[in-house]
Amino acid sequence: MKIFELIEKLAARRNLSDDEFKTLLTNDESDEALFEAADKKRREIYGDEVYIRGLIEFTNYCRNNCYYCGIRRDNKNAERYRLTKEEILACCEEGYCLGFRTYVLQGGEDPYYTDELICDIVSEIRRRFPDCAITLSIGEKSKESYKAYFDAGANRFLLRHETACDAHYRMLHPESMILQNRKQCLYDLKDIGYQVGSGFMVGSPYQTIDNLIADIRFLQDLQPDMIGIGPYINHADTPFSNFENGSLALTLRLISVLRLTFPYALIPSTTALGTIHPQGRELGLKAGANVVMPNLSPVSVRKLYALYENKICTGEEAAQCRGCLERRVRSVGYRIVTSIGNVIKEKNDADLS
Ligand code: 5AD
Ligand code: FES
Repeated sequence: MKIFELIEKLAARRNLSDDEFKTLLTNDESDEALFEAADKKRREIYGDEVYIRGLIEFTNYCRNNCYYCGIRRDNKNAERYRLTKEEILACCEEGYCLGFRTYVLQGGEDPYYTDELICDIVSEIRRRFPDCAITLSIGEKSKESYKAYFDAGANRFLLRHETACDAHYRMLHPESMILQNRKQCLYDLKDIGYQVGSGFMVGSPYQTIDNLIADIRFLQDLQPDMIGIGPYINHADTPFSNFENGSLALTLRLISVLRLTFPYALIPSTTALGTIHPQGRELGLKAGANVVMPNLSPVSVRKLYALYENKICTGEEAAQCRGCLERRVRSVGYRIVTSIGNVIKEKNDADLS
């Protein structure tokens, strides 16, 4: 089948075979047509709206040792920090004034924040900002813990599966981490009632096109509300320090393929994408992404949350980033809205017409 027919087939919501996905992902001659089809699909459902999420990176302590990540336990060069409940609330306060209606609390897997403490923080945010969504991104926990956070007021959870293939997962993580557990966490979160986000890095060490197909197939099974992808970016203080960064072109192509495969998904144009190319986030939006996640963390700790090198926006105040993004988003024909930005569910199709 010709590449344009494949794009049309996907746009018509018909599933592709593995080989067809492979053809789409490896062909660089039809990118414009692919981006256009994805943008058309996103506009049909989400119009020109871009949702913003205020990211609060509240701890860079982590008990895990993922080979790709700059805040892995064994990186003794990482200067560690934790934010207090009051500091986190101050970030939310500032964010609210800037038009944020979603807070994303992200951190390493840090046992200092017991379930009790997380619930205490979440319930206070819920009390003070009843019109906001609270998203957690704090790694693998028991179903009971996830349920407790949900009951305290959290509504969304981000947990990238990182790669859906066991063999590849083993190359990226030490023995103590098990892909099946991570996948189970995602199904548990869904079962509890969270809006769930998953995703993976593009161009992570040893990744093959077959791995990426498996990622798409896993997402088709999970049916997440949010899908976050970004290029792998090198960090000198990790065992992967000699590997190349993931590619802009393949990341953009994947964003489009994901938009067409999951038309209703919330797909961020990630900071990692903005880090490997000065217009990376704008290009991500044009390829089908509809969310951006500026940083609300205090400037004093921003550089320390270094999952990878040269991360952008580490010197700017939240208000500066907000203004900068406003201009960037507008420059490519979309607009940031002050909205909780919930996922539009497919079953609402009738309401849309
Ligand atoms: N490059 C790009 N993304 C990374 N992440 C972690 N380390 C890196 C890196 N070196 C991503 C992972 C994680 C998310 C919070 O950041 O996918 O889930
Ligand atoms: Fe942060 Fe531009 S978005 S400075």
